[in-house]
Amino acid sequence: MVDAFAGSCNALLWLVRGLPGAVGVGFEFDDEIFRLTSRNLAAIGAPIELLHGDCRSLIGERRFPGRQPIVAPLSPPWGEALNPKSGLDLSQTKPPISKMIDVFERAYPENPILYVIETHERLAPEPLAHLRDKFDWSEVEVFDVGGPTGRHGVLLGAQRWRRAGD
Ligand SMILES: C[S@@+](CC[C@H](N)C(=O)[O-])C[C@H]1O[C@@H](n2cnc3c(N)ncnc32)[C@H](O)[C@@H]1O
Repeated sequence: MVDAFAGSCNALLWLVRGLPGAVGVGFEFDDEIFRLTSRNLAAIGAPIELLHGDCRSLIGERRFPGRQPIVAPLSPPWGEALNPKSGLDLSQTKPPISKMIDVFERAYPENPILYVIETHERLAPEPLAHLRDKFDWSEVEVFDVGGPTGRHGVLLGAQRWRRAGD
């Protein structure tokens, strides 16, 4: 599990707990968030390695052997990307999601990767289509849990990752 925008490592921790044998690697560039999260992870003995710095430069330094599968949750800050009328523009997150896919694909060109991208119930269609073109296959899911700005969901995007039945 590789979370480029680890924050509190809440998402990473739940993913690692849900898959026996999985290990977590997270990246966080904010000094204070890194300090607090590192302290919390140590207190509970979580199997997560949290690295301090900008994921865009650090991901390439952290290799995974052979064809080890990687699940990559991606929830960068949305900034101004969520517009009440047109929905979430995935090309305007900070950094844009497609740039992050490029970073991962450069760093791990052989590993099967399942990207789990946090989304909103309304997505600007053009950037979504452009992003989906980057994957071997993709699926959009919306969860039935309302937040202050609407329901959230995920875009699953896969590279070299076989679906059951393929
Ligand atoms: C929306 S939060 C992620 C929440 C996280 N998934 C969780 O479960 O807590 C985004 C986090 O990414 C961090 N961040 C933003 N840009 C980053 C970058 N380029 N490299 C590393 N961390 C970054 C922010 O400081 C913030 O903590």
